[in-house]
Amino acid sequence: MLQAASIRQEPKGKPYRLIDCTVDASVRAAASAARTGADARFRTVTDPPGNAAQMTQRELFVTTALPYANGALHIGHIMEYIQADIWVRFQRLRGHNVHFVCADDAHGAPIMIAAEKAGMTPQQFVAAIAAARKPYLDGFLLGFDHWHSTESPENTELSQDIYRRLRVAGLIAIRTIEQFYDPVKQMFLPDRYIRGECPHCGAKDQYGDACEVCGSVYGPTELKNPTSTLSGAVPELRTSEHYFFRLSDERCRQFLREWIQGGRLQPEVANKAREWLDGDSGLADWDISRDAPYFGIPIPDAPGKFFYVWLDAPIGYLAALKAYCTHRGIDFEGVLRNPHTEQIHFIGKDIIYFHTLFWPAMLHFAGKPYKVPDRVYVHGFITVSGEKMSKSRGTGIDPLQYLKLGMNPEWLRYYIAAKLNAHVEDIDFHPDDFLQRVNSDLIGKYVNIASRAANFVTRYFEGSVAEVDADGEWLALAPAAVDAEIAGAYEAREFGKVVRLAMAFADQLNRQFDASRPWELAKDPAGREALLRICSRCLRGFQYLTLWLKPILPELAKEVEEFLGCAKMRWKGGLSPVKRIRPYRHLMERVTPGQLDALFEPPAASPEVATAGTAGAGASATPPPPSQPVAAAPGQSLPPAISIDEFARIDLRIARIVAAEEVDGSDKLLRLTLDVGEAQPRSVFAGIKAGYKPEQLVGKLTVVVANLAPRKMKFGLSEGMVLAASHADSKAHPGIYLLEPHPGARPGMQVK
Ligand code: 2FM
Ligand code: ZN
Repeated sequence: MLQAASIRQEPKGKPYRLIDCTVDASVRAAASAARTGADARFRTVTDPPGNAAQMTQRELFVTTALPYANGALHIGHIMEYIQADIWVRFQRLRGHNVHFVCADDAHGAPIMIAAEKAGMTPQQFVAAIAAARKPYLDGFLLGFDHWHSTESPENTELSQDIYRRLRVAGLIAIRTIEQFYDPVKQMFLPDRYIRGECPHCGAKDQYGDACEVCGSVYGPTELKNPTSTLSGAVPELRTSEHYFFRLSDERCRQFLREWIQGGRLQPEVANKAREWLDGDSGLADWDISRDAPYFGIPIPDAPGKFFYVWLDAPIGYLAALKAYCTHRGIDFEGVLRNPHTEQIHFIGKDIIYFHTLFWPAMLHFAGKPYKVPDRVYVHGFITVSGEKMSKSRGTGIDPLQYLKLGMNPEWLRYYIAAKLNAHVEDIDFHPDDFLQRVNSDLIGKYVNIASRAANFVTRYFEGSVAEVDADGEWLALAPAAVDAEIAGAYEAREFGKVVRLAMAFADQLNRQFDASRPWELAKDPAGREALLRICSRCLRGFQYLTLWLKPILPELAKEVEEFLGCAKMRWKGGLSPVKRIRPYRHLMERVTPGQLDALFEPPAASPEVATAGTAGAGASATPPPPSQPVAAAPGQSLPPAISIDEFARIDLRIARIVAAEEVDGSDKLLRLTLDVGEAQPRSVFAGIKAGYKPEQLVGKLTVVVANLAPRKMKFGLSEGMVLAASHADSKAHPGIYLLEPHPGARPGMQVK
């Protein structure tokens, strides 16, 4: 048996073993280069200070946008959290101090109304939503330090404090405005709850702000024959005093001009903010009050007035930090006052306006200890197979279903990372691409290095590894250089580049491994030394790769640390040597096409899986509210009651099944061609294959949800949904039963 120590053969003058891959000066250079469009001013604001030797620990206060507490988290939220979480984990690995928080955005009229419909107080409603967050956060390995709520004492105190300071600064104005009032609900109506006829083209049933038919934009009071969507009543015009933040004040404009130019924003975001600031219409004063009844924070000295939800929502970032600090015994004000603290917000592109105008202005004019954001990192939306997601269309990926199917959260983290860059670009989830990147790249290129090398090391060297490096003359892409580039790309949020660099390095290791023909070396005792060297180098390279991917794949990295028997890897102080590996256990399973099919199955095919909101990131999806069960049904609790009006919105029709066929690649779906009494038949995918053979169905009548927006599925467009019964626990009680009307019903008849 060869002793590991006898294999040290690197040429003199080469770094024998990399002690530390941390090269902060070059990292910063790479990060700057990776930030397209970054200029000298960028660096003057808050660039990481110093080089490796002088580098001080950064103090980072990082947030993600607060999701509305009106429904489940959707894939857009998860994408944003994954992006921020990767960045935060990277910073922590480099030894920086990060406070990473988020909260529920609990206030506002829609939540108040949803709570009322669910028969709950708003507080109960948002508490139920909050209670459902954990599986998502844990499930996708999202390492927030704290998850708070804007419905909290901290947020009340901070919002009122900031408001008082703005008032002292002369930036609050009180004005009387005219607004629609619902005499039945006894409340002023937000625009979205008023409908009427377009004042320009006369189209009926249009929203209070814009006409979907002719595209004109107007105020709700211009609508003809307006009605309240809450009660159906004709709203009355009433006056009310409102409080305004005087953004049109020259001081605000001047401050914002400087702040926007300060290199804190991506160039495209700064351009947009500049347009808003200096465009023709300029910045209008911002209405920050709402009249009771409203679920929000009371405005001091203004009975019956509450802060508009968007006033207290971003203050929720600070409230979350404060609650976290209290819990951890950290001085909250100290964090804010620390001149080195960097306040960084990750947000979606739909809420740039609030974060680049209102929010910095509020903070600046509130004064110390508040500080303005140092960076606002904006991302695009996530689409699915090129389609923008929407709750109503039902496309998208339900994050909980993903987890329930046993799909590995790190697959999604890796896939999302591979697609992300520092720009405000939408990213697309495509099942085939997902399968390919996970199986061929992540597992085929990276994970496989370990299994290939480990098998020889375990078999011929009892797990002992030679102390070598993956460097030397052996690799064209030397780890030190890759390390600096990858670190720079992480810093700049160019995660796609991180993945590309890591995969190029993995390719190189695999090529070298193959070129050494280890299987032949193994046959010949004289080749054993070379065999150990190549395997050891590959394992060392695998160790680097694991460090580089650790922010993206934290759980896998833990397993690798155990497998390599090395210390916890950090991006600081070098990697500890690998001396003896544990026997190789499969580090990661491959994703199967069946899992992806199941992920895209319509809810009817998997009734046990909860359907969650699937709107684009930042969009205000309104999935079913939480509620106390009303009564027990076989295997399932009843969801909250809906009104007759809500039921009436669903158009159920009789359909004749004119054709039925199996769907290639799906073990659950049948493709049905339905005559619904229209000029053209419809094509509908139904998850009923377990219960029916296609030929049993042809000619039968059933019921279809006719006004369900068409949904693009993996196998094609589905233009409706047939109704079928099944037990809530379909595993324990399989069986699916298509609804069939009594004789006499005809295609196209309405079901009421
Ligand atoms: O658009 C949204 O989903 C908001 N709830 C985001 C708020 S972010 C911050 F300001 F709180
Ligand atoms: Zn119109």
